[in-house]
Amino acid sequence: MRYQRACNWLQALEGDFDSSHLSFLHLAYDEKLQDTGHERKAGIEYYRNIARMDKQPLLEVVDTDIGVMYGARRAAEESGFYWRVTEFLLPFYTSVPAYCGKNRAKAWVPLDDEHTMVWEPNWSATHDLTEEEQKGWKGRVPPSGFLPDTKDGLGYGRFVANAGNDYFLDRKKQRSFNFSGLENVTTIQDGAMTESMGRSATGRRSILALLTRRSSSSAGACFRSPESFANKTNSLPASNTPSFTGGTAIKCC
Ligand SMILES: [Fe+2]
Repeated sequence: MRYQRACNWLQALEGDFDSSHLSFLHLAYDEKLQDTGHERKAGIEYYRNIARMDKQPLLEVVDTDIGVMYGARRAAEESGFYWRVTEFLLPFYTSVPAYCGKNRAKAWVPLDDEHTMVWEPNWSATHDLTEEEQKGWKGRVPPSGFLPDTKDGLGYGRFVANAGNDYFLDRKKQRSFNFSGLENVTTIQDGAMTESMGRSATGRRSILALLTRRSSSSAGACFRSPESFANKTNSLPASNTPSFTGGTAIKCC
């Protein structure tokens, strides 16, 4: 699977490297799915419902030799947590948690300063992928599909839903079905957010929550230590859980 983002590669990557937006951008309003009994037998929806209910994950960040990784902790059961572990590998790879024995990474390859090609390799540690699974299209290609490729250097992997048609934003759907009002596919929802910031946004006008502001600097820089984050904001964000002992916990929205 490959597709294009019409913005700077770092801007696109940083939008993906964030767990808190799962609780808003990618979830539909379906109160029935918040029922505990339903969650326990619902597979993927079980995890999505946790994110729906706990919209303020705590992040524990770890530097690695080849990038940075963090765990986003959400309350799951009465005595348990749901951790989503996200990785950034230099120079431009990310990997967010997957489900159902399948894994997926992304390579954010700059085409120029304002266009990025995203490659998504898929694999499984538990079974051989079918040809269809190897394509990685299921759940990733929106109903509106792709534009025809052209021979132009930027003419590949472009979604039909784009800034020119407002990503087919549907206000009625936004009131009744999902937060974004967009097609219920994360590739479109993520793209609408990162591209609509501008082709190469500085983040100076950002009014988002504390942790999201880290996106305005280089990838991972503000993740590397709470001190570096505090130096930029003059305040150190704290965990809201007194018993939490991880030294790099950051409360985000
Ligand atoms: Fe996303």
